[in-house]
Amino acid sequence: MADILKVQDLRVHFKDAAPDRFAVDGLNFSIGAGEIVGLVGESGSGKTVTAMSISGLLPRKKANFSGSITLDGREIFSCSDKEMLRILGDDLGIVFQEPMTSMNPVMRIGPQVEECLRIHTKLSKAERKVRALEAMAQVDLPDPEAIYDKYPHELSGGMLQRVMIAAAIISKPKLLLADEPTTALDVTIQAEILELLKKLNREHGMAILLISHNLHVVRKLCGRVAVMQRGKLVEDRQVEDIFRDPQHEYTKKLLAAIPTRDRRLV
Ligand SMILES: Nc1ncnc2c1ncn2[C@@H]1O[C@H](COP(=O)(O)OP(=O)(O)OP(=O)(O)O)[C@@H](O)[C@H]1O
Ligand SMILES: [Mg+2]
Repeated sequence: MADILKVQDLRVHFKDAAPDRFAVDGLNFSIGAGEIVGLVGESGSGKTVTAMSISGLLPRKKANFSGSITLDGREIFSCSDKEMLRILGDDLGIVFQEPMTSMNPVMRIGPQVEECLRIHTKLSKAERKVRALEAMAQVDLPDPEAIYDKYPHELSGGMLQRVMIAAAIISKPKLLLADEPTTALDVTIQAEILELLKKLNREHGMAILLISHNLHVVRKLCGRVAVMQRGKLVEDRQVEDIFRDPQHEYTKKLLAAIPTRDRRLV
């Protein structure tokens, strides 16, 4: 299986941190085309900084970084801002934790879903709308036509997360980065969103990096899981192997921690 993502010796240091405190400290891992991989670890272990690095969103003024990240063979760190924007509009989709804060409250849903097409393609307004409705149907939003014209505050958290996913997949990316996509949602909606991600992977062969602090959520979706602690990978194995025989003390601790809100998912 060809790798869609390859991260080699990634190091990130924020300029305001202690000299020996690397947010990401020599990270190596890859994701095969169409693969679903989990990235877990406690708060502050460097998961989001890893995702930001992959998306080319690290603030260069605030952070020093080194290593190599290739997405579908292209080196992210040597891309210009313009090239990076094209990658974001083409090969890479991103979904974050808080749908409400990632959306513009005074802009209708439809234009937000199709924003990436507006920036990166020459499609007409009508063509973009067709694609937006298609993406909204793919994420199982009921009545996409009606939702297209609504504002974010008119939708529930679960629906908004589906809208965010529709916006992330509208350009049919080869890799979806999902950073805690279900943490802000209640458990039944969490399970639905995980099912949706699984369906998108199955039907479109889209690879997914699912970031979570919760190994049990990751188990629902991922074949393989990488465990991060203080910027380093401490395990990178098949998820069932980790559950059967965790190697690292820290992984054992994560396995023991089942937050109450996720109990019904386990
Ligand atoms: N913009 C920033 N400026 C300075 N330090 C930062 C910045 N963003 C992250 N960090 C630091 O980098 C380290 C890794 O943070 P990161 O957000 O990647 O953790 P995380 O694993 O995503 O945690 P969580 O589970 O809470 O989301 C932390 O020590 C954090 O304080
Ligand atoms: Mg995070």
